[in-house]
Amino acid sequence: MLKGKHIILGITGSIAAYKAAYIIRALVKKGAEVQVVITPAGKEFITPITLSALSSKPVISEFFSNRDGSWSSHVDLGLWADAMLIAPATASTIGKMANGIADNMLITTYLSCKAPVFVAPAMDLDMFAHPSTQQNLDRLRSFGNHIIEPAEGELASHLVGKGRMEEPDKIITVLEEFFASRSILEKKKIVITAGPTYEKIDPVRFIGNYSSGKMGFALAEACAAQGAEVTLIAGPVSLTTTHPNIHRVDVESAEEMYEAAMAAYPEADAGILCAAVADYRPEVQAGEKIKRESKGDIMLHLVPNKDIAASLGAIKREGQVLVGFALETNNEATNAESKLKRKNLDFIVLNSLRDAGAGFRCDTNKISIIDNKGEVASYPLKSKQGVATDIVNKLATLLK
Ligand code: PMT
Repeated sequence: MLKGKHIILGITGSIAAYKAAYIIRALVKKGAEVQVVITPAGKEFITPITLSALSSKPVISEFFSNRDGSWSSHVDLGLWADAMLIAPATASTIGKMANGIADNMLITTYLSCKAPVFVAPAMDLDMFAHPSTQQNLDRLRSFGNHIIEPAEGELASHLVGKGRMEEPDKIITVLEEFFASRSILEKKKIVITAGPTYEKIDPVRFIGNYSSGKMGFALAEACAAQGAEVTLIAGPVSLTTTHPNIHRVDVESAEEMYEAAMAAYPEADAGILCAAVADYRPEVQAGEKIKRESKGDIMLHLVPNKDIAASLGAIKREGQVLVGFALETNNEATNAESKLKRKNLDFIVLNSLRDAGAGFRCDTNKISIIDNKGEVASYPLKSKQGVATDIVNKLATLLK
């Protein structure tokens, strides 16, 4: 998957810079061409001679390579690349990337780069945990960059090791999986539902739920980053999307989401149903605000909404893929398996509210994927972007 790929490897001033040598060696072994761009601080930790010997290319560090006026073009480099990997990425470089502070060759190259960008942070725990670093990482994620960090479950403890750079072999795996799914997802049409639905009681009140849309939007970004054309049917959320491959359809109620999904799915290669759809709506929606009555209780009569997943499952044709979610609080696996069958899904993504950091609103999730052949894969707690990548990689194995 990496054969013939052009990779820019950005190296910054971290003690983990020595691991860049292993990354270059592995990339070259797999047939990739590597161009190293190193920051001035990076050169304090590893010598350009080592890096150019491993990559068989001169290392780029300065805008002007010699005193003869010849210069390195960050624009040409940005166009040459199939991917840019910044490993190790210090807090300083991450901050500059997040804010467009282009005071060295690495950042100018990053700003000119049209290819997907992967960032492997490396710093101590306090720096990593600082809100400014976390906000900068969130900004990079919102630009569609891929942050590669060790999954929580793989760390020695919840805190020890956070901020440590991911191991070179795992970084290579992330790149390989990215290119493998990309070759399959390019130009595929994918419908994604995200967020909650609001079921109106009267003009000022509704029945809703805590879904923020983060998981569904992360999936939309992950699919779009792989070249898929995404129709994102979003319930009422405050999130934004920037990727040109994402066509967003905003809806409010389950009924509207059903209409939009039924219209889009027949043309699609796959559907991913991540929305938390209200199963019931008030039978009657009051035309005017319901006034507080002194009489005491009031009754709301609820009627069932259509099951969007089951309806798409019923019209699914040969070659189409349908993925659902199961949000559970008890008997997780049994409930998820029953939804998988009932809704005619190819696989279901199970998340449980019993797991800390999983489910609604948070930036992380912890999932298991159960497929219709009975195979189960469980993943550690990850960012919702990381979870989305795992789901997209599974989807890619089912698409032709
Ligand atoms: O949005 P976030 O804050 O990031 O939170 C993410 C999430 C918790 C909402 C997400 O990870 C998730 O679990 N989504 C599914 C929530 C849900 O409603 O699960 P369910 O077990 O009730 O539904 C099973 C499946 O049927 C889901 O794919 C759901 O989209 C679908 N469904 C349910 C009811 C209905 N009327 N129509 C449907 O399509």
